[in-house]
Amino acid sequence: MRRSRINQIIEEAIAFVDEQHFFLPRFAYWTPNEWRKKGEEVRMIIDRQLGWDVTEFGQDKFDELGLVLFTLRNGAQENLEHGKGMLYSEKAMIVGVNQVTPMHYHWLKTEDIINRGGGRLAIQLYTADDHDDLGSKNVSFVADGTRCVVPAGHVIALKPGESITITPGLYHSFWAEDETVLAGEVSTVNDDSSDNRFLETVGRFPSIDEDEPPRHLLVTDYRRCVRLAHH
Ligand SMILES: [Fe+2]
Repeated sequence: MRRSRINQIIEEAIAFVDEQHFFLPRFAYWTPNEWRKKGEEVRMIIDRQLGWDVTEFGQDKFDELGLVLFTLRNGAQENLEHGKGMLYSEKAMIVGVNQVTPMHYHWLKTEDIINRGGGRLAIQLYTADDHDDLGSKNVSFVADGTRCVVPAGHVIALKPGESITITPGLYHSFWAEDETVLAGEVSTVNDDSSDNRFLETVGRFPSIDEDEPPRHLLVTDYRRCVRLAHH
C-alpha cells in the first residue's frame, strides 16, 4: 500500500469519527515527530498495538476489501491466563459501503461488534464445520442479549445502536450497506497476529511503499520511531 494512500485514509477516518461524535484518545493524533519524543511511558501503546491499523487484507483493492481500525485498549494474553487485570480490548472500525472484511473466525476472542453510527452494517454468518470450512448448519448467536437462530450464510443488518456477540468458531464477514459505518468492537484480549482464522489466505498487515513521509503512524510503524529500553 502506498504511504500517501494510508495518510489520506487516516485523515478521512479522523474526519468521519469526528462527524459521528466519537472521540479518540490523544495518541490518535500524534505526528511522527511527537512519537519520536516518546519513550518508556508509551510502552503499552506499542506492545499492545494500540492505534491506527489500515489493512487491505493483502490485496490491492482497499475500497472493496479493506478496513480501518483504531485500537483504543487491549489487554495481555498473560492476564487472560490469570483471570486478572486487563482482560479486554476495544476498537473503533470504519467500514465503507461494500468494503468487505473477509470471512474469518477467532480461536479465542469473543467480540461484540457494535454499530456506533452511520449506515447499516451487514454481517454474514456461518458456523465453522469439522474441516474449518463454512458449515451448513443453522447459526445460533446472541445479539443485544437476545438469542437468535438463522440459516447458514444469513446476512444480518445492524442499525446504529445494535450489536452482535461473535463467539470463537463463528465465521463472520462484514461490510456497510448504504453509508459508511462507525463500528465498535468490545472483546476479550485481541491478538491479530495469531487469533484470526481467515477462510481464504489473506495478509493482515500491509507492506508499505514509502512514496511520501507518514503523517500518522500505524501500529506496525512504532518500533522504527519510538526508542524503548528493550523489547
Ligand atoms: Fe472478527
